[in-house]
Amino acid sequence: MAVIASLLGCLLLSVATAAPQAASLSSSVSSVAVSPSATDTSLTTAERAELFSLHEELVNIPSISNDEVKCADFVSKYLEELGYYVDKVPVGNTSTYNVFAYPQGLKDEGVLPEVLITSHIDTVPPFYPFERREKNGTVYHYGRGTVDAKGPVATMIIASHKFFQSRSDTPRLGMLFVVGEEIGGTGMKAFASYAKNTTFRAAIFGEPTEGKLASGHKGSLSLTLDVKGKAAHSAYPWLGVSAINYLAEAIVALNSLQPALPSSKLLGPTTLNAGLIRGGVAGNVVPEIANASVSIRISRSEDDAVTVVRDMITGMLSPIVTAAKAANATFNLIFANSSYPAPILDTDVEGLEVAPVFYGTDIPSLPQVKKRYLFGTGTIEVAHTPNEQLSQDELVQAAEAYGLILKSLFPES
Ligand SMILES: *[C@@H]1O[C@H](CO)[C@@H](O)[C@H](O)[C@H]1NC(C)=O
Ligand SMILES: *[C@@H]1O[C@H](CO)[C@@H](O)[C@H](O)[C@H]1NC(C)=O
Ligand SMILES: *[C@@H]1O[C@H](CO)[C@@H](O)[C@H](O)[C@H]1NC(C)=O
Ligand SMILES: *[C@@H]1O[C@H](CO)[C@@H](O)[C@H](O)[C@H]1NC(C)=O
Ligand SMILES: *[C@@H]1O[C@H](CO)[C@@H](O)[C@H](O)[C@H]1NC(C)=O
Ligand SMILES: *[C@@H]1O[C@H](CO)[C@@H](O)[C@H](O)[C@H]1NC(C)=O
Repeated sequence: MAVIASLLGCLLLSVATAAPQAASLSSSVSSVAVSPSATDTSLTTAERAELFSLHEELVNIPSISNDEVKCADFVSKYLEELGYYVDKVPVGNTSTYNVFAYPQGLKDEGVLPEVLITSHIDTVPPFYPFERREKNGTVYHYGRGTVDAKGPVATMIIASHKFFQSRSDTPRLGMLFVVGEEIGGTGMKAFASYAKNTTFRAAIFGEPTEGKLASGHKGSLSLTLDVKGKAAHSAYPWLGVSAINYLAEAIVALNSLQPALPSSKLLGPTTLNAGLIRGGVAGNVVPEIANASVSIRISRSEDDAVTVVRDMITGMLSPIVTAAKAANATFNLIFANSSYPAPILDTDVEGLEVAPVFYGTDIPSLPQVKKRYLFGTGTIEVAHTPNEQLSQDELVQAAEAYGLILKSLFPES
């Protein structure tokens, strides 16, 4: 790819400076040099190169949740050097912060952005460094965060800067790169509270959507099942109460309830996953303690969707809870407060494919947004895995797609 890129660079140069020579060259590669669908959102060769190196630099700065300051400093400096005003928005009492950047001109006028383009700079553990691999003529970027979400971060920066440069006015657009998305949205929640008096006309959120505009994503409800029984010698089980037995019964009951949970045409079935169970101390001890973490992905968007699902679960488990109590065990269902129904998203941008996604995002953590778009490069299927990667072509396409969304949000007068 590097060879092709420099060849293309030479070619463009020769088109500009030495027309007669270029004629014979361009006839052999005209489909590469001049794309018939080229628009003013197409990246130049220099912009592509900058995108690839920015992506590499971002991936090579480890930024596991709660340890993002180095990456936030890098992004701040990068944007300041491009001339943007950078507001370092504190997150709780931690030393980490969100990067909120917008044109210095807006800052000078005391005007805040009315549209946000936003993604997150934190990643899940562990760190895998950046690696460039070429396969069958396509160049891929490997490493932690290449997809989730440093692909979106790099492409948003390149696309936004290109967009600002293309305009004679100063669009009220702000770039927001938050921390803590992977640990419950601490960064976005801090920003929402910081900007609590501001309503944004629109926001473009960046998560891997395979280059499609997401029409919606699933809602979320987390549940902890917490059982406390009574320990005893395993040879005398009648002297104890097994917490694991009640917990196991509850998990089987939840899985049998799953097909009855509400579904929707857009997002399909509501699903659940008992992803972590803990309990007991040894095979020859009746277990006193057992608990499980369950994640429920809600496909309905109605305001009462969370309540409906919660009530169905509570009802399904109620005979088991009652039986546990009768045996002097305690059985608590602890529903997390940070639950939300499925957000339905805006898709009114021409030229982009549309599809729903099933995972959760920061979108519900920023309620003061009217129009909400979710778009990003790469696939969630490799996010959070050691095989996280995307191609350079996907990066370029995503940057160009953000350009289209921005143009549709700021039509030129
Ligand atoms: C700061 O945050 C830590 C960790 O969340 C917490 O334990 C501590 O109480 C907080 N301190 C203040 C002053 O809020
Ligand atoms: C390599 O690319 C060629 C041309 O695009 C394609 O026909 C072939 O199937 C590809 N091979 C692999 C292993 O992906
Ligand atoms: C937000 O609005 C409230 C009530 O109008 C006001 O008291 C507060 O100072 C405002 N906060 C900011 C940061 O502007
Ligand atoms: C869950 O069970 C483990 C193992 O018995 C125990 O260490 C932990 O404190 C329990 N957690 C809760 C929230 O009950
Ligand atoms: C539960 O505890 C009460 C009070 O200690 C006791 O009377 C009862 O027999 C216990 N029930 C069982 C099933 O162990
Ligand atoms: C939910 O919020 C309430 C009220 O703030 C609080 O008492 C409760 O502990 C919270 N529940 C969980 C699971 O965090």
